[in-house]
Amino acid sequence: MFSFKAGSGDHVEVVAGNPIPKDCDVAVVGVYLDGDLSAAAKRADIDTEGLIAGACKTDPALGKKGTVRTLFNSKKAGAPVYVVVGLDEKDKVNAKLLRKATQNACKEVKGLKAKQVFFALNQEQIAKQNERDIAALCARTVVESFYSFSACKKQDEETPALPTFHFASTKSTHADVAAGCAMGVATGAGMQLTKDLGNLPGNICTPTYLAETAKALSKTYKLGLEILDTKKMEALGMFSLLSVAKGSVEPPKLIVLKYMGAKDPKAAPFVLVGKGITFDTGGISLKPGAAMDEMKYDMCGAASVLGTMRAVAEMKLPINLIVVVPSAENMPAGNASKPGDIVVSMSGQTIEILNTDAEGRLILCDALTYVERFKPAAVVDVATLTGACIVALGHVNSGMYSPDDELAESLQKAGQKSLDTVWRMPLDEEYHEQLKSNFADMANIGGPPAGSVTAACFLQKYTKAYTWAHLDIAGTAWTSGAAKGATGRPVPLLTEFLIGKAK
Ligand code: BES
Ligand code: MN
Ligand code: ZN
Repeated sequence: MFSFKAGSGDHVEVVAGNPIPKDCDVAVVGVYLDGDLSAAAKRADIDTEGLIAGACKTDPALGKKGTVRTLFNSKKAGAPVYVVVGLDEKDKVNAKLLRKATQNACKEVKGLKAKQVFFALNQEQIAKQNERDIAALCARTVVESFYSFSACKKQDEETPALPTFHFASTKSTHADVAAGCAMGVATGAGMQLTKDLGNLPGNICTPTYLAETAKALSKTYKLGLEILDTKKMEALGMFSLLSVAKGSVEPPKLIVLKYMGAKDPKAAPFVLVGKGITFDTGGISLKPGAAMDEMKYDMCGAASVLGTMRAVAEMKLPINLIVVVPSAENMPAGNASKPGDIVVSMSGQTIEILNTDAEGRLILCDALTYVERFKPAAVVDVATLTGACIVALGHVNSGMYSPDDELAESLQKAGQKSLDTVWRMPLDEEYHEQLKSNFADMANIGGPPAGSVTAACFLQKYTKAYTWAHLDIAGTAWTSGAAKGATGRPVPLLTEFLIGKAK
């Protein structure tokens, strides 16, 4: 079970300050093309009596983006080791490049086994963004870079202590850098929870485990908590959600977490709903065997809304936020749903289950009806909903759907700012045609064309009572292959969106 250390990214500490701390073992500074030094690199060059400028002269590739060099300083002043990072053309440095530079620097710092790191890549006003945003992005990237998942490996003899990062600031920037660091670390801490939950296997991370995690969050951050079990869901008429869980021995849960941070306790809450299928076999419409293990990630929507809750609670944002997680395991069994079965959803609308592998929408629709009671300011659901979304957008953008232009734009902007981007997809009435059923109010699949769109259209039929958006994160929640692992997306996007609403 997780314990949550309040006020930290667990893995690294980030604090703002200047000058280089006495016990610092590594300093990270940036240089530009043609030996042009950043302010921090200039200072380092004075301390080291020309080490940095000398290196730039003999190694012209040093200023290029992507390069990192470790320089050892034998002089008394400054840090004993400098990690020098190429930032390319001075006036073209942007947030994306800075993130990459921070990632590269962290890789190098890891190899050096540093304990106290002075970090000065955030120091210069870049791309017209303010110090706070840059510090937040860099701090988050540092926390992300030091993430590792070893919960299921035999304990290492000694896990190396993780470093403290000291972010450079000046008198005039200190308050912003400190605030940015706190925001970045909070976002990183949220992503860490999201990644841990995603990476845990289906035999550990069950609906019950998600409920226990929500309970731990509620204790640490003093959140309201409600866990609805099968009986309570039956009483509410959530027979669509319950139909997905039928074939599994794992009991389903509907998890509700409430954070009341707004000055006005009656202020309409933002509601996040996350798909929590802790393993998706496809059910009777069984999936093929190849890469089926990755369907342990089918609860990444749930993990991301819980992670966002952690980030928001860490930041003590002045908003009201409710997180709702419908959770079940999708298994084939003698008592599982069969193609052609018809269920009644909580909304009263009936659904013909033509494919038991289109289960995400079946649990989400009841959760989306349930949240009407909160009279939300807006509802955003997050789900690893369709393979078709990966066909459409790959692993770069999450699919975003909303009939509300203002909400859509606000999510797009938050995505750009946090470098956790979405691409808006259509919801035309014509697509709804594909969901028609001869026997029920709707079918749960719309056929091969536009599979991600028809899944969103299905959800739209349950969201008429409030302002709503849907994020399909099938392509962005985890990476496959040798570096298989959860990404923590879209926690940065959702957190940035909510920071915007707190203003
Ligand atoms: N969880 C899957 C979607 C998915 C598949 C996400 C692969 C990421 C990678 C979802 O429950 C599902 O199985 N969707 C089906 C829908 C189809 C039956 C209409 C799909 O995408 O094939
Ligand atoms: Mn499925
Ligand atoms: Zn699924």
